[in-house]
Amino acid sequence: MSDWLIVNADIVNEGRRFAGDVRVRGARIEAVAPHLAAGPNERVFDARGRLLVPGMIDDHVHFREPGYTAKADLASESRAAVAGGVTAFIDMPNTNPPTLTHALLEEKYALAARRSAINYAFYFGASNDNLDAIRALDPRTVPGVKVFLCESTGNLCVSDPATLDGVFRDSPVLVAVHCEDDRIVHANIDRSKAQYGDDIPMRMHADIRSRQACFESTQWAVTTARRHGTRLHVLHVSTADELVLFETGPIAGKRITAETCVHFLRFTDADYARLGGRIKCNPSIKAASDRDALLAALVDTRLDILATDHAPHLSEEKARAYTQCPSGIPLIQFALQSALEHVFDGRLTLERLVATTAHAPATLFAIKDRGFLREGYCADMTLIDLETPQTVKSSDVLSKCGWSPFEGDTFRSSIAATWVNGHLAWHEGQLDASRQGQRLEFGR
Ligand code: DOR
Ligand code: ZN
Repeated sequence: MSDWLIVNADIVNEGRRFAGDVRVRGARIEAVAPHLAAGPNERVFDARGRLLVPGMIDDHVHFREPGYTAKADLASESRAAVAGGVTAFIDMPNTNPPTLTHALLEEKYALAARRSAINYAFYFGASNDNLDAIRALDPRTVPGVKVFLCESTGNLCVSDPATLDGVFRDSPVLVAVHCEDDRIVHANIDRSKAQYGDDIPMRMHADIRSRQACFESTQWAVTTARRHGTRLHVLHVSTADELVLFETGPIAGKRITAETCVHFLRFTDADYARLGGRIKCNPSIKAASDRDALLAALVDTRLDILATDHAPHLSEEKARAYTQCPSGIPLIQFALQSALEHVFDGRLTLERLVATTAHAPATLFAIKDRGFLREGYCADMTLIDLETPQTVKSSDVLSKCGWSPFEGDTFRSSIAATWVNGHLAWHEGQLDASRQGQRLEFGR
């Protein structure tokens, strides 16, 4: 039985903030109203004035299963997610094997059905030779096709110009792109190797995976998408420069949308000295001026979605020298708390945070019945305590890799509870992963 009456909540939803109650029947929200009376046998949950929002839908994660399960897996990372107030994820195809066929995609869904504590979907991967499989994708079951325009973890770079053009022209689903110019990146690596040998300083990452590499690639993607009318989604925008390529306005009117990630809003190149390879990721973390411009663009709607790009690697891998250190950061468990720091600083409203972490992904992917606190919608909700701070310790980390770039950092908020399909999966530090999440459905 999973019926709840959540009372005394500070609800932020669809641009409004109000005191209210939420009734949950089974997996769905039955009512949202200023005052609801408890019925017989109804479990009352007193929110005590804490903030209740729709759970984060993270449209960009690397949960590593199948193939790299020493780093992470669907069970471990979905548990980390639920502790962070994330109730759904869309996972990337650079697993082993990579998700390049319909059969492999369905195998991932089958794995998640058994192992994921939160709701899930999986991108299809593009390669130099699977265009026919992309053409046959069903928009009602597949969120999008992921295209790497540059080599990164998993080597899924699509380098063949005719294939790329074909994907942009023919994909029946949204095209999500990792934009960095492969030629520029490799020329920069060669130059750094010539200068530093095997001892490239970690801070050079910002110059190697450079702003020029990002801009040229994103400009190419946007231009090509305009030519073909592609439904394009640019992932993990990391520079101020790229922002001129995007427009403000509601998602519903856009053919080209863009995402940034929590780490680009928190870390800068000054942090390489302190955190080294731990914050090495692709695209790279760049200057404070980029961080500030990205936050402003998330506020003014040039950027539509705030995601994590949660990409765990082992601690010993991240301690290696530059050329041997894999790119990617585990972020999902503390993503909302990290983003909430901008709210405390007065630079982001709660309404916009909720819009970019829950409403926008639901709208952008046409996810059925999620992403909003609405009657009849699935009861995916997060209760946030804005008055109880949390200092991150490695023993708090639920990701399999066991470390976080936030260790030692104090967030001014904490995640008090997370409901997934009406199931209280996280409450005051206790995880109840006895129920599995559901496959996301797309109403398009
Ligand atoms: O930093 C990154 N990590 N960028 C990517 O493109 C891939 C990801 C990963 O899978 O580790
Ligand atoms: Zn990624």
